Amino acid sequence: MAALFSRRIILFKTVLLLMFLTMLKAKTHVRIINNLPDDMQLHIHCQSGDDDLGFHELSNLSSFEFSFKPNWIGSTRFFCFMAWLSNGHYFDIYEYRRDGTCLWTEHTCKWHVTPNGPCKEFSNGTARCYPWNT
Ligand SMILES: *[C@@H]1O[C@H](CO)[C@@H](O)[C@H](O)[C@H]1NC(C)=O
Ligand SMILES: *[C@@H]1O[C@H](CO)[C@@H](O)[C@H](O)[C@H]1NC(C)=O
Repeated sequence: MAALFSRRIILFKTVLLLMFLTMLKAKTHVRIINNLPDDMQLHIHCQSGDDDLGFHELSNLSSFEFSFKPNWIGSTRFFCFMAWLSNGHYFDIYEYRRDGTCLWTEHTCKWHVTPNGPCKEFSNGTARCYPWNT
């Protein structure tokens, strides 16, 4: 009886440890999709306080994706400069308080870039559009 009980405790502790390790390993992804009309190319340059993700050029419907682990204190933030034709705007593409880990969309925050601003896709297929920051 005692042996069975302690085996259960060991199993329980193992499950907890595995859940904890999975949480530590889980990365959050951000995917940015060019949804501009008229086959326009989208130029993007994303950065955080620590990382410069470089310049990328996206054709119609193609995407740029990056991943990271949000820090423990919830201050992780990435911003992007996005440009097409003679337009150029900044947007905070990832903010922990707004986006969390994007758990319900496979840990991926999906953004569709339109001329009026980026639209974030939800797990139910709808999207919410935000204005450019500047
Ligand atoms: C973007 O690509 C899709 C799929 O190839 C195509 O159906 C659509 O017409 C294209 N849109 C523009 C604006 O070129
Ligand atoms: C889809 O999900 C979003 C975010 O959870 C919610 O605000 C919206 O009302 C939902 N829309 C539908 C049609 O279920």
